[in-house]
Amino acid sequence: MVTGWGFARRSAARFVAGETCEEAINALEQLNELGINGTLDHLGEHTSSEGKALQATNDIKEIFDAIEQSGVRSNVSIKLTQIGLALDRELCAQNLENILTHARSYNNFVRLDMEDSPWVDATLELYWRMRNQKGFDNLGVVFQSYLYRSMDDQEAVLARDGRVRLCKGAYIEPPDVAFPRKRDVDDNFDRLTRELLEAAAAPDAPELSSDGRWPPIPAIGTHDVKRIDFAKRYMEELTLSKDAMEFQMLYGIRRDLQKQLIQEGYRVRVYVPFGEEWYPYYVRRLAERPANLWFFISNLFRG
Ligand code: FDA
Repeated sequence: MVTGWGFARRSAARFVAGETCEEAINALEQLNELGINGTLDHLGEHTSSEGKALQATNDIKEIFDAIEQSGVRSNVSIKLTQIGLALDRELCAQNLENILTHARSYNNFVRLDMEDSPWVDATLELYWRMRNQKGFDNLGVVFQSYLYRSMDDQEAVLARDGRVRLCKGAYIEPPDVAFPRKRDVDDNFDRLTRELLEAAAAPDAPELSSDGRWPPIPAIGTHDVKRIDFAKRYMEELTLSKDAMEFQMLYGIRRDLQKQLIQEGYRVRVYVPFGEEWYPYYVRRLAERPANLWFFISNLFRG
């Protein structure tokens, strides 16, 4: 119902690059002009039928076609519940393999977003299955610093040269799985950052590819200036090359900071969501920052 309200669509437009892939590619072209790479996300999660999961899989494959045709510097982020994880793990595995095969034909990369904690084990199991049994290396994973388990999970992935996006975590989680206090989430973020940067300092660690598609091992996904400063300082200490890590931010959030980091010579990738199913994504962005609610309400009164 909400997605049909004009004022809600106008408010969401700040965080969502449009409803079509074409609009998202246009947004990406503008980011690329600023020197910013992208990762496209066709919005959708918790798909409710096998048919919809297959449709989502095909839509994601078409994003890779659009990237190739337009030549934008971008890879793709996906949510496994969009391609059937909540319905049937084997169906999801088939769809994921299909997507990875298609992405590999273009030498492109797939990031598995991390959803709420009940899905972490299954997401990691499919990540490992695709890497170890199916031999794909064009995929990476996400860890959330609010989860107690993330340090152990990240160590295992780094031991096999996995590519990791680190973020704080966007879902409401119970205290038996996640740090309830923001300060602890932030401290853990810095600890995980340190580990990631150390992995990137290894002599044979992969760097950002010249076409902007393959990320380096660490992607530090945050708009928090303190976390970013911590990463910069530790990079300097390790004398890491600027291509050995990237900062990632969300479309429409802290554009000033995105540009500033580029001017300072860092690599930046922006997560560009698009599609009709923007409501859950938008609600997470509203919940992160109470000031965004005023933005929502002001659009209501603009009619
Ligand atoms: P924090 O919430 O402390 O915010 C720091 C500052 O950033 C704020 O003071 C404000 O200036 C700005 N800011 C943050 N959120 C804002 C908002 N919504 N509107 C306006 N300003 C805002 N999560 C997840 O669980 N799984 C995932 O796969 C991903 N993937 C992902 C990819 C990328 C590229 C990013 C940047 C983030 C994610 N996230 C995610 C979301 C992440 O977990 C987290 O919810 C948000 O990034 C907000 O946290 P910050 O690190 O920015 O810090």
